[in-house]
Parts: sequence; C-alpha cells; structure tokens
Amino acid sequence: MAVYGVAAAVLASVESRQGSIRGLVYASGFQNVKQLYALVCETRRYSAVLDAVIANAGLLQAEKKLRPHLAKVLVYDLLLGGGFRGGRGRWKRLLHRHEARLKAELARLKVHRGVSRNEDLLEVGCRPGPAVQVPRFVRVNTLKTCSDDAIDYFKRQGFSYQGQASSLEDLRALKGKCFLLDLLLPELLVFPAQTDLHEHPLYQAGHLILQDKASCLPAMLLAPPPGSHVIDACAAPGNKTSHLAALLKNQGKIFAFDLDAKRLASMATLLARAGVSCCELAKEDFLAVSPSDQRYRQVQYILLDPSCSGSGMLTRQLEEPGAGAPSKERLHALAGFQQRALCHALTFPSLQRLVYSTCSLCQEENEDVLCLTGRSISTGTCTQLRPKEKEEAAKSSGGS
Ligand SMILES: C[S@@+](CC[C@H](N)C(=O)[O-])C[C@H]1O[C@@H](n2cnc3c(N)ncnc32)[C@H](O)[C@@H]1O
Repeated sequence: MAVYGVAAAVLASVESRQGSIRGLVYASGFQNVKQLYALVCETRRYSAVLDAVIANAGLLQAEKKLRPHLAKVLVYDLLLGGGFRGGRGRWKRLLHRHEARLKAELARLKVHRGVSRNEDLLEVGCRPGPAVQVPRFVRVNTLKTCSDDAIDYFKRQGFSYQGQASSLEDLRALKGKCFLLDLLLPELLVFPAQTDLHEHPLYQAGHLILQDKASCLPAMLLAPPPGSHVIDACAAPGNKTSHLAALLKNQGKIFAFDLDAKRLASMATLLARAGVSCCELAKEDFLAVSPSDQRYRQVQYILLDPSCSGSGMLTRQLEEPGAGAPSKERLHALAGFQQRALCHALTFPSLQRLVYSTCSLCQEENEDVLCLTGRSISTGTCTQLRPKEKEEAAKSSGGS
C-alpha cells in the first residue's frame, strides 16, 4: 500500500487512542518508517488547519468516497508538505481537480488570521517547540569504529569539526554542517537539530547509533567492565543494550528481556547491525525471570529501563503537541509495575550495581519508585505485579 493509505490508517488509530504514533508506525510493517512517521506527525500537527481547509473547500462533499483521514494526509502533502509526491495515480488526479480551491482556502485562512507563514497558523502548543531545537546526538558504536575515524569520515564529507564542546552554549550555537564532540561522553557526536543521518552510510552500516544523550547515560553510569554479566530487564528496542555491549567490548554476557515480540524483532535487527555478539535476547516477562536460575548467578549489573509515561520525551511533543500530563490512574499503574520490577531486580544474588532510568519527568515514576521500593525491601513486602498494572505496562512502550 502507498504511504498515504497507511498514514491515514495510522492517523485514524491514533485518534481513536489505539496506540502511540511510533508504535503504530512500527506495527504497520511499512518499509519506510521514517517517511511514514514524519507524514503522520506533521499531518496531526496541522490537523485543525487541514480540517478547516478541507471543510471550506467542500472536498469531502465533492468526493464522497474519500475518507476524512486520507483526505487530511493527501491535502497535507499537497499544501504543506512540499507538494504531492504520489506519482500519477488516482489520488494525483483527484487532488489536481481540487488543487486550486484548496490552495485558495489555505490563502484565505492566512489572510483571515493575519499571518503569512503556514507555521503561524498553528496553535501555540503545536508550534515547533524545544524538541526541534535539540541537537542531533549520535553515538559512535565502538564495536565497529572509533570517534576519530567517524570524525574523519564526516570531515571528508564536508562537515566542519568544531572540537569538543566546552559548554551548552557550544551545542546551542551549532548550525549548518558543523559538529562537535559532546562535553561528557567521548563517543557522542553532536550535530545541529534537524540533521538527518538515517540514510548516512555509517548509520546504515551500524557504525553510528542515533541515540539521544539522555538515553546514553544509563549504560554509561552502569559501566559494566568487559567480561561481566549484565541483565537488561526491559530492553527493546535495544539502544541501551547495544551501548552496554560496546562497553563490554562484546566480552561477557547480556541477558536482554522484553515482553513485546515486535519490538524484540526490531531489536534483533539493530543488534545485528551494530555487531553485538554477547547478547541473549528473550521474549520474557522480567518479573518471571528467576533470580535463583543458575544462568544469572554471575549477574552483577542490571539496567532497568521500564515502560513509563514518556512524559520527558521530546519526540512526544512532536507526536502529541500540547499533550497533557499522564492521568493519575495511569501513573499509578505504571509506578506499580516500575516498583515491582525494581524490587525484583534487587533480589538477584550477585548484584553489585543497578541503574534505574525512565523517560518520565513525573516524581511518581522516579523518586517515589525508589523511596517506595526502599521501604518495601526494608519491610519485606515486595510483591508480584497486579494484573491491571501488567496490562498497563505491556501497553506502554516508552522511548529509546
Ligand atoms: C522504555 S522501553 C525500553 C527501552 C530500551 N531500554 C532502549 O533503550 O531501547 C520499555 C520496554 O519494557 C518492555 N516491558 C514492559 N513490561 C515488561 C516486562 N514485564 N518484562 C520485560 N519487558 C517489559 C516494553 O515492551 C518496552 O519495550
């Protein structure tokens, strides 16, 4: 199916709250994930504008067979996405019939609102926020290359290397084809926001991992030495697992668990591309993994990055502009799972260091989980996950 049909289906599912854009895009099986994701996010961002233009142009009345979500995606591409790129087929002909009217309605809307740019038509909450200003962080995969070689490669491609950053100001000032080395992580390159490296040969070959800085901190802090045994309790899609493998230099063992088969499948691809050979992947509920199993007797390091509300994820602002805080009920269910997972992780007999991380800014999922877990351990009341919490945890996938 062409991208428009799939994008319309994803959009409809998102609007009926069947999942996140990211999850639905991956679940769609569409090959060009990036194209689909961008089309859905942008159509959603301009949803109110598109509704107005489509209604004022009478498009759905004139084209009775055209479904509203598909109309939105097509009109987004025609008017706001840089021109319809759908070839010569049926949609092209349909849009051609209405193009002049649709363009006139968009122009009329701008005049009516007293703005000149498309972006100014957006509600404040839908305008590009901090997410689009955050630099593009790129972790050099030391299983395949080193920072110096990656830097040389980019220099040969016409990028200008500015050395190691010395302040956040250096990162904010990045533009054009300039890039830096991060001030904290020696394997992290920093490019201007909007730099797209998905098609870059080094990324395609697994030499680079497109991973935000915050997502690099848990493995860096866990710092398992080469040869050690590590559990990655909630591992998919695997960016942190590949980071752990790089720190281990592929020596030792990572036991990586996740409940979600689809996410595990993309994780297997990611790990293979990154050259990870020390990881055993298992589709398993971490809470059902027995700490007394002999296979885990040498596990001294555990990374616990459980499902969470994702309230701290900047990409969420792009997916759900103006999205409110997670509900109390949802936070409660998530925190219940997080606390149980943490309690469980702490019972592995050889454990020496554990890192607990979330993509959430909510105290309920962070500080409170640690406090309550501490209390449960001291009173001996760590219990198994309740079914409702399990369901909520399985539904939420969180970020990478
Ligand atoms: C925040 S994501 C993990 C991201 C991952 N650490 C990374 O860096 O790519 C949380 C993951 O936990 C998984 N999960 C949820 N409940 C689980 C459970 N009981 N056991 C194992 N995995 C679980 C979800 O399927 C999801 O993939």
